[in-house]
Amino acid sequence: MNCRACGSGSLKEILNFGNMPIANGFLSERNFDKEGWYPLRFGFCPLCKMAQLISPVHPNLLFNENYPFLTASSDWMVSHFANLVDEVMERIGQPNPFVIEIGSNDGSLLKAAKGKGAGKVLGFEPANKIGSLARKNGINTILAPFEYLQAQLMIQTEGPAHLIIATNTLCHVHDLNDVLRGVKAALARNGLFVFEDPYLPDILRYTTYDQIYDEHKWYFSVTSVVNMLERHHLALIDIEPQEVHGGSMRYYVTHADSPISKKAYQAYSQERFIDLGRMQEFAGEVTYEIKNLTQTLGEIARSGRTVAGYAATSKSTTILNSMGYDAARAISYITDTTPVKQEKFSPGVHIPIVPPDALLTNPVDYVLMFAWNHWNEIRKKDSIFREKRVLPLWHTTKIAEKYSS
Ligand code: TMP
Ligand code: ZN
Repeated sequence: MNCRACGSGSLKEILNFGNMPIANGFLSERNFDKEGWYPLRFGFCPLCKMAQLISPVHPNLLFNENYPFLTASSDWMVSHFANLVDEVMERIGQPNPFVIEIGSNDGSLLKAAKGKGAGKVLGFEPANKIGSLARKNGINTILAPFEYLQAQLMIQTEGPAHLIIATNTLCHVHDLNDVLRGVKAALARNGLFVFEDPYLPDILRYTTYDQIYDEHKWYFSVTSVVNMLERHHLALIDIEPQEVHGGSMRYYVTHADSPISKKAYQAYSQERFIDLGRMQEFAGEVTYEIKNLTQTLGEIARSGRTVAGYAATSKSTTILNSMGYDAARAISYITDTTPVKQEKFSPGVHIPIVPPDALLTNPVDYVLMFAWNHWNEIRKKDSIFREKRVLPLWHTTKIAEKYSS
């Protein structure tokens, strides 16, 4: 099989989840029989070290008018973006820079960049509804994906960008090489490209297999990023590990004539353990965790106790549809704060999504914590956890250990 990053024929299948529904495809009852199922296969290229989806579904099925994610829905993420903007604006040291964001969502980050002195901002957002919202909020947004062709057209009218930012976006793009060609073309000579995405070594460390779903086509490490940038005559100059999404890495990139930082080089050296053997070991751990969760939920249901899901995340679609159907159906409901998800059902196993107060009006013994990446925020703000009225259940033991302190 061909690697979708480097093009070599060495791509190997690591995990096959079988057919899955669209991860973010929360649906009404009347659409149950129209639901589509698509193969979800996770692969690894031993040559360029890029972990990736094999034959991912077409982007039109994912980022359409129904796409429900809003950046501003989490306080922690809003402050994360504000910090990111502060840090990178300081780093480039360019007065009134032109800032582009790839996957600009509701415009929160670009709004923060404006507040920090950006001369001009431009977002690229293919999810129409969210992009239109950003426009209404005064953020200049192109309602299309960032592609090489778009980038070329854009620089003719707007000029090159001093700063290009992509947070949790590159891992979603279908044609990674085309986006990087666009970045190369759109970035000013002394410009900085900053992107951050979930970090493969953290996924391996915590067995967070729920990061694997249709939208996440790429699972970056410093090594695969260095290899990918090299092909596009771009250079990794620095990195900064991040807590978001259960462990992400921020990468700082320039045109190809800058030296790499000691920190980035160290991370690169420490990643030598990532090989086909380690990836296969991960596959074994994932299989074990799925079986374990299936059994646990089965036992809970048999003993007459009750479980709800906490947060209808895309990640939950992988968990719910890879465990046994009966075990998944042991979950009475899933709470979520997002209004468009409420009154709908989860993809595949069709568990009702309800507002969070259901945990008070219709109490359960356990919640399966699907928003584990927000756990530090949730356990402080949600009284049911503070008062230990409900016990969190985790889909991998390692995530439980990470947050048990
Ligand atoms: P994500 O940021 O991991 O994609 O998850 C976002 C989903 O989790 C979104 O649907 C909102 C939901 N959520 C809650 O229901 N309660 C919460 O406290 C948080 C932080 C998120
Ligand atoms: Zn490759």
